[in-house]
Amino acid sequence: MTKPALDASGKAALAAQAWVEVGELLDLQLSPLGMRAIDALGPALGDMVVDIGCGAGQSTLQLAGRVGAVGRVVGVDIAVPLLDLARHQAADLPQVSFLQADAQCLDLPDQSADGIYSRFGVMAFADSQAAFGNFRRVLKPSGRLAFVCWRALEANELDFMPLQAPGLEAMADRTPFSFADAEFLRTMLSAAGFDDVVVQAGNEAVSSGSLEAMATVLFRVGPLGRILRENPGLKTEAEPSSGLPLPITRNMAWLRCEPRHGSLRLVPVCEGRLRVVSGPL
Ligand SMILES: C[S@@+](CC[C@H](N)C(=O)[O-])C[C@H]1O[C@@H](n2cnc3c(N)ncnc32)[C@H](O)[C@@H]1O
Repeated sequence: MTKPALDASGKAALAAQAWVEVGELLDLQLSPLGMRAIDALGPALGDMVVDIGCGAGQSTLQLAGRVGAVGRVVGVDIAVPLLDLARHQAADLPQVSFLQADAQCLDLPDQSADGIYSRFGVMAFADSQAAFGNFRRVLKPSGRLAFVCWRALEANELDFMPLQAPGLEAMADRTPFSFADAEFLRTMLSAAGFDDVVVQAGNEAVSSGSLEAMATVLFRVGPLGRILRENPGLKTEAEPSSGLPLPITRNMAWLRCEPRHGSLRLVPVCEGRLRVVSGPL
């Protein structure tokens, strides 16, 4: 009997489960990218900051460190399993709270936040301008917005090469890359009420610590991970061919490897590419 096709909520549940499973390994990759946006936001002691699409909460904790015990951080996410983990991680931090909500219609009071921040949690809104217009409403007049998002899929080797190797790139969901066009971002943010928008490209070598760890992450999350979660029958297509070390697929090397001292060395595991948008209102 064939399984029924997954609907949107089934896909979202699979995604949340995968994020929980590889969360610690993924945090190692995303933290350096997210820290750039935290620096761009520049939260001060005592600030109230909202972390949009906070996931398992690593960035929420990092923000809590910046605003201190006299500040406040509210992590917002739609996925319950991720929020459960986030709440557990932040149990000892009284300045941190979490809200299970669709961030597109964030229901916080007018002019209540000093900062709105996101680490890859703002690219999937149905109406970006409306969502960011609502963020603008929640920010104080002196408030700031900073987030990190991806450039184009093709510019993110770590995501693109493992898709290309088994020829699965046409199946990739491009939603996470929907803010790749800087001009679109400037126009959208300006229409949403933000002035002085700065879009900065940044490259960062990131790693989950080992080749095996990187492969574990790639097979569960990101564009390839999503295809395999939703189409488990394709897993053999994407898996490295037998007898070869992990990073070599049927057609080409991914995670760019080169022979060294008789073994394989991982050359810059990934250049995570990002944009940072920030600026006073
Ligand atoms: C790519 S993950 C990033 C998670 C986290 N910021 C991190 O860097 O580890 C995107 C997150 O945004 C959340 N998300 C997506 N759409 C959302 C929405 N409309 N409202 C609230 N959260 C949302 C997802 O549940 C997920 O946790």
